[in-house]
Amino acid sequence: MKIVLATRNQGKIEELRRILGGIDVLGLEAFPDAPEVPETELTFEGNALLKARAIAAHTGLPAVSDDSGLCVDALNGMPGVLSARWSGRFGTPDFGAPDRDRANLELLLDQLADVAAADRGAHFVCAAALVRPDGGEQVVVEGRMDGRIIEAPRGDGGFGYDPIFVPDGETRTSAELTAAEKDAISHRGKAFRALAVSLARPTEAGVSRT
Ligand code: IMP
Repeated sequence: MKIVLATRNQGKIEELRRILGGIDVLGLEAFPDAPEVPETELTFEGNALLKARAIAAHTGLPAVSDDSGLCVDALNGMPGVLSARWSGRFGTPDFGAPDRDRANLELLLDQLADVAAADRGAHFVCAAALVRPDGGEQVVVEGRMDGRIIEAPRGDGGFGYDPIFVPDGETRTSAELTAAEKDAISHRGKAFRALAVSLARPTEAGVSRT
C-alpha cells in the first residue's frame, strides 16, 4: 500500500514512515506539480482536511496531512492555527525558517511577561487527516501534548516553540528531549499513531481525539 504525506518536511515524512512500518509513505517531492494549499481554515482539522483532499485529488493516492500549533491558556488558545506566522504575515520569504521560529517565540514570551507561573498553561495540538482519492473515507484524528510556557528559552533540539514549552511531568523543555522522547508524548506522535490504526482498520468518516 502507498500513501502520500502532504508535506515537503523530511522530518515529518521520516516520523510517519517509522510509525506506519510496512506502508510506503511518499512525500510531496515525488509530485513536483502538486498544488500549494494555503492554510485558510480557522481550525486545525479544517486545514488538515483541506490539504489532504487537494493532494488525494491531485495524486490519486490516499493522502495524509497534518496541521499543528500551540494553544496558550492566557491568550485564549492563541496563537493556535496562526502559530507558524504569529510574528509576521503568511507568505513572507522567511516563513517557516528558524529566524521566524525565534521571532514567534520571542513575541509570545513578551506577551506573557506579566502572566504568573500558575497561569502559563498551554498545549500543542496536531490534527492529522486521511482522505482516500475515490471520494470515500475521510478521517481526522487529533493528538495533544499539555504543558506550560517558561520564561526563557532552553535547549537546542526540536523546532518552533519547543525551547519555551515544558511538557507535563517533565522538568526539561521539549527542545531538551531526545527526538524519540518527544515522539513518544508529542501531539504529532499521538495523532500519527491514531491514524495508523485507522489506516489498518478503515472506519467511517469522523473525528477522534487522543
Ligand atoms: P505546521 O503544522 O507544520 O504548519 O506547524 C505549525 C507551527 O506550530 C510550527 O511552525 C510551529 O511554530 C508550531 N509547532 C507545531 N508543532 C510544534 C512542535 O512540536 N514544537 C514546536 N512548535 C510546534
